[in-house]
Amino acid sequence: MQKSYFQKELINKPMSEDIINITWRAPSNIALVKYWGKSAHQLPDNGSLSITLERSSTTTSLSFKKRQKVEKKISFEYYFHGNRQLQFEKKTAQILNDLVAKMPFLTDYELVFRSENNFPHSTGIASSASSMSALALCLVSMEEIVNKKKQNKDDFFRRASFIARMGSGSASRSVYGGIVTWGNIPFIDPSSDEYATLLSLPKESRFNHLMDIILIVSSEEKLVSSTAGHALMTSHPYKEGRIAQANSHLKKMVDAIRRDNYELIGEIAENEALSLHALLMTSSPDGLLLKPNTLHIIEAVKRFRRESGLDLFFTIDAGPNIHLIYFEDQRKLVLPFVQNVLTPFCEDGQWIDDRIGNGPELLSPQIEF
Ligand code: PMV
Repeated sequence: MQKSYFQKELINKPMSEDIINITWRAPSNIALVKYWGKSAHQLPDNGSLSITLERSSTTTSLSFKKRQKVEKKISFEYYFHGNRQLQFEKKTAQILNDLVAKMPFLTDYELVFRSENNFPHSTGIASSASSMSALALCLVSMEEIVNKKKQNKDDFFRRASFIARMGSGSASRSVYGGIVTWGNIPFIDPSSDEYATLLSLPKESRFNHLMDIILIVSSEEKLVSSTAGHALMTSHPYKEGRIAQANSHLKKMVDAIRRDNYELIGEIAENEALSLHALLMTSSPDGLLLKPNTLHIIEAVKRFRRESGLDLFFTIDAGPNIHLIYFEDQRKLVLPFVQNVLTPFCEDGQWIDDRIGNGPELLSPQIEF
């Protein structure tokens, strides 16, 4: 039986001095059409589309208790893998302060966040997407409890996507499983720059069996954070062209997914990845994030696709590591290629085995319906 996002028992519980705990596990995602460039509070310059991962995720628990004395300043602590993390705390303070206008109850409680990632740092997996989406889901669950007001499932996740976006744009897409779009997109309804939308797929669709192998070329700290990268787009000479390109790619990508045109999907995804890096390289100051081994992997993937005829392609986030996307029914042929040809280009031979996933999961309280 599915675990419920709906906190019925807790909503009916009288609020006392009790500490209430909520835990969500939220996955990361990898974009095939990239969000790159924004205005305030993560309003994107262009629409984007991503695959939600299954395994790579953040688990966040939020404990809260009513404050003795109401004060204007938010009271919270943030623990990452058991340790108080002042850097995260600073970022979270900024996000929570921005959220008070939307969630005024936040100042009435003492909050403690405990968060863990199940994937290593700097591996090409967007930890901001999973962590901000887990945080948002906890906050929206808390909102239901303290306001004693349940929402329907669609409203709950839309609200979580909206709140997640305030923390990190790509996190807005991680509140849904499968394939997700984000941005005000004329041919997707409903769609908005403020929250993401699930692209529904038929049950029998081959896209429900998409796989992602993340090839770790380098786990060094990124030279350009995504925040800095988005900022570089503000005065980028190719800004207008990029917005037009991404929106056209998005339209073609959604059509190609609906028509099972795998060749076109791969073509657009690879063009998006290279465009993102071309934009980074032509920014001022420039952001050259690709490594020689990234290029060796790209060439090897293209060669293997030509020779094998398989439906596989690569994408890259704002870093040197490669996501190899393929379908489960071709796994037996893809794995030996990865092990024999690609892992020699990876740092200590490291790669992560992931796939498309069903989206976040409420771990506690364990209410079933
Ligand atoms: O959500 P942010 O600010 O970490 O930006 C994400 C940017 C990319 O990962 C490069 C693209 C995307 O759409 O996820």
